[in-house]
Amino acid sequence: MKITLLTVFSLATICSSALAGSTSSTSSYKLRPDPEGQFPRLGACPDAHACIFPPDVSQFIPGAYFDLRVELHAYDEDTSKPTPAPYTQFKTTVRKNNGPWSDVNRYFDLPNPKLEEWNFSWVNSIDAHLGTIKDGKPVSPVNVAVSSRAWRKLKFKEAGSYEIKVEYGPKQSYTVKYTVPKKPKQKAKNVILFISDGTNTGMITAARAVAKAHTSGKYHEFLSFESFDNLGHVITNSVDSLTTDSANSASAYSTGHKSSVNALSVYCDSSEDPFDDPKVESITELIRRRQPNKAIGIVTTAYGQDATPAAFVSHTRKRSTYQEISDQIINGVPDWTDPVIPDVWLTGGAEYFKGPLSLNGTDYYKEFSKKGYKVVQNKKDLNNYNGKDKLMGVFRQGSLDVWFERNLYVNNTVGNKAAPDMSGKDALGSDQPGLEDMTIKALETLKKRGGDDGFFLMSEAASVDKKLHVFDFPRAFAELVELDVTIKKTVEWLKKNGEYEDTLILVTADHAHSFDVWGSVDRNYLSGHVDNTAKLNSIGVYGQSGWPGYFDTNGDGFPDNWTPNIVLAAGTSNGPDHYEAWNTSKDEIRNPSITGPDKLTYIPNPEDAAGDYQKGLKWNSNLPTEENQGVHSMSDVFIYSNGPGSDLFKKTFENWDLFFKMAEAMDLLRPTKKEN
Ligand SMILES: *[C@@H]1O[C@H](CO)[C@@H](O)[C@H](O)[C@H]1NC(C)=O
Ligand SMILES: *[C@@H]1O[C@H](CO)[C@@H](O)[C@H](O)[C@H]1NC(C)=O
Ligand SMILES: *[C@@H]1O[C@H](CO)[C@@H](O)[C@H](O)[C@H]1NC(C)=O
Ligand SMILES: *[C@@H]1O[C@H](CO)[C@@H](O)[C@H](O)[C@H]1NC(C)=O
Ligand SMILES: [Zn+2]
Repeated sequence: MKITLLTVFSLATICSSALAGSTSSTSSYKLRPDPEGQFPRLGACPDAHACIFPPDVSQFIPGAYFDLRVELHAYDEDTSKPTPAPYTQFKTTVRKNNGPWSDVNRYFDLPNPKLEEWNFSWVNSIDAHLGTIKDGKPVSPVNVAVSSRAWRKLKFKEAGSYEIKVEYGPKQSYTVKYTVPKKPKQKAKNVILFISDGTNTGMITAARAVAKAHTSGKYHEFLSFESFDNLGHVITNSVDSLTTDSANSASAYSTGHKSSVNALSVYCDSSEDPFDDPKVESITELIRRRQPNKAIGIVTTAYGQDATPAAFVSHTRKRSTYQEISDQIINGVPDWTDPVIPDVWLTGGAEYFKGPLSLNGTDYYKEFSKKGYKVVQNKKDLNNYNGKDKLMGVFRQGSLDVWFERNLYVNNTVGNKAAPDMSGKDALGSDQPGLEDMTIKALETLKKRGGDDGFFLMSEAASVDKKLHVFDFPRAFAELVELDVTIKKTVEWLKKNGEYEDTLILVTADHAHSFDVWGSVDRNYLSGHVDNTAKLNSIGVYGQSGWPGYFDTNGDGFPDNWTPNIVLAAGTSNGPDHYEAWNTSKDEIRNPSITGPDKLTYIPNPEDAAGDYQKGLKWNSNLPTEENQGVHSMSDVFIYSNGPGSDLFKKTFENWDLFFKMAEAMDLLRPTKKEN
């Protein structure tokens, strides 16, 4: 026994030293940790002068498209010195499975792309960011002279490990490694991806406490998705920052690649043009190429150009390029795969589909109609649609009104002039569908269109995030409860229509807010006292944290009363100066902070009823002065999963891996015969 063990040990030693030797002699590859600092030169560029996008440790599906961009950065951080000459001479090579290196042009059989040159300013410190005056001069950013080449629409046909190397300057080189894994086949006919924007586990717990009855502290039932087969954790940080916005987190879900703040399904290069950044193929584009008969649906309570839906239909460095995003839905982008043209599109954002804000004044309702869409603009017409044509529903300019304004305080929508036909009339809350109406109609239509090939649906509860940013907790709870009811109705619909066993359902968030509850509050006591000590004592903790007064007696899944005296003592870990009284804003949406007299910092809003201005508890800012709302936080988010393939989602994984897991579940990993 002892001898065997020794033999194994010594063999292993020999193997690993032989391996180390061969690695150092044939490869310049070295995994480099991200550097320290708040102001990276450019996302995912650990080398001092070279950047390759997609960056190191990227993963691809065999045959999935991507753009490759190499950038070389000449600069001197000592800004009193001139900018060095750009690196115009460089060589880019590729190799597979540690084989011989070959020129990128030759390997992908493409002409050498033209050399591009530009400069950008690298803001490398807080002082440069704020333009701090030092020695009588503002601290200036570093001028970076860039030379670059971009190869468009590449793919790795086969599984394996690949390296891309750029050699530049007298002796320098930088190498990145990609993997193209081979995975087993597994099949779900349909996938429904519910994204509850900005929702953390604390919000799930709070929504349960608000919506579900309990006796002796035991719940009668949980939220609908809490009985799902599996539960996992998703790590949400972006390619180059701790906290993410919805653009790069949705891109990670959509493409399998992490990105930077504001970027949609591209890696960010340093050039000015927001449309020339290296693109990566999205799950929706891959479905169109590999399973063209599968139906695709996009549903959101936000405007359709907003980050989460946009990541599934567009490629841009700037999430605010709403006009072009609208156009890309049906027209796509040049030199890339075909546009997604979803079978179902149910959103807000009318102002970018018609009228002065739409791209070149185009009437996209007409353009969508020409592509065979039935276009609807209110809840009644949506519910009445029973056809088989593609369906476009746009119900409001901007984001749809939230559940409160669609159901409780409809009068708050009088005078919004937000009608989706751009007539200047109002889009009344009662005329707008909710997430449930849209999701069920999407399922009906997708089933008709996808038939045996099934469907992929992304359905987003967008305003959980939007209401958490402004600490409008009752409205945020209602948005999440609406998602809960929607998922319950979805499961019922799937069972009734014979699709339940074939459908993978995912319920996740794109990132967290640092929301939690630390007790309950007596609102009357709080507003009935003037001195701060008494006000603080309105909060009950531990043994005094009795239940809030929400009750759902009519069984519709929503509490019947949204303004009980005892409510949750809730908040997030960050915010600008504001007041908190946990009142429900009845007359308008909450806006806790406004621009102060100095025009630079934010102060509590005198109109903030939920904060009970100067009578509620004072909350002091812990944010940089440019932030007028609470910001996202970095904790991992939940992912509940149910049905075929749900085992894949029961662990802790990174946001980019969701794409690969969905692709595996839908059997999208292998190139079709037509492709090769
Ligand atoms: C970049 O900056 C350098 C130094 O300021 C300048 O000489 C050069 O012309 C600039 N290049 C471009 C493409 O703007
Ligand atoms: C919009 O107009 C600009 C300027 O005339 C033109 O370059 C562009 O191609 C137009 N875009 C579309 C989608 O029509
Ligand atoms: C809404 O406004 C209408 C017309 O101004 C009014 O008659 C109605 O009472 C209002 N409803 C509520 C719930 O305030
Ligand atoms: C906040 O709620 C308390 C208790 O219901 C009430 O007395 C007070 O007037 C409310 N404040 C505002 C600004 O609505
Ligand atoms: Zn947000």
